[in-house]
Amino acid sequence: MDVPTSIDGSPDSAWAALRAELARIAAAHPDALLASSMGVEDMVLIHALAQVAPRLEVFMLDTGRLHAETLAMVDVLAARYGATLRIVRPDPEAVQAHVQAHGAYAFYDSVELRKACCGIRKVEPLRRTLAGRSAWITGQRREQSVTRSGLDVEEWDAAFGLRKFNPLAAWTSEQVWALVRALDIPYNPLHDRGYPSIGCEPCTRAVQPGEDPRAGRWWWEQRDSRECGLHAGNLAGRRPGVVARDPALR
Ligand code: ADX
Ligand code: SF4
Repeated sequence: MDVPTSIDGSPDSAWAALRAELARIAAAHPDALLASSMGVEDMVLIHALAQVAPRLEVFMLDTGRLHAETLAMVDVLAARYGATLRIVRPDPEAVQAHVQAHGAYAFYDSVELRKACCGIRKVEPLRRTLAGRSAWITGQRREQSVTRSGLDVEEWDAAFGLRKFNPLAAWTSEQVWALVRALDIPYNPLHDRGYPSIGCEPCTRAVQPGEDPRAGRWWWEQRDSRECGLHAGNLAGRRPGVVARDPALR
């Protein structure tokens, strides 16, 4: 099914360009992985991949603290796309040791403890998943946060040592939702309950209309620290003197 050109007002629609970009990535990097948090952006990417590169692997980091609604999306994907998602979980011993030492809600106590929890539940599992791969794909958008305003569609991910594609970098929230409505793409019901951005349950809350889309993520922290380590380059790139280099360009 194609989408009306009114999605972005031009015959050469953003939707067509997205599918072409994903087909290009899949051809250049057949071992690429799509990271899905089951947020609406990832659903758009999954819908597009189902059409142009159905064999590309999709994974979700199940931190052990996700909303039931997010976990339920796994079955929704299977029913709609016949897609089997790879579910990646943290090392149970590391989780247990952290909880025993600091408690189950230590992330509220300090940025350091919050980052330690993200490190165990998200970053280490991501590192394990990306090991040996040449590229990964995310649903990040520039509009989402001050830390993402300079996001490139294609970048070298120095933290994990592979290429990183953010094909929706330039998309607006309106474009994403117009496409979802036009193509009847399934999405996490939390989006309709005031959650523009969805992470772990204890670290995400609903936002008020007009509020910053990531205001509900780690809301007790300063805006410019609100990245969990999956996208460390977003913070590194903002620090003068820290340059993420692609070895291919040396
Ligand atoms: S986060 O770093 O703050 O958690 P965000 O929720 O905005 O990220 O999602 C941005 C992108 O990161 C998603 O589109 C997805 O590609 C990836 N991502 C975030 N959380 C997960 C997760 N739990 N599993 C897999 N990918 C994820
Ligand atoms: Fe832990 Fe919260 Fe990070 Fe999830 S978002 S890994 S619960 S600190």
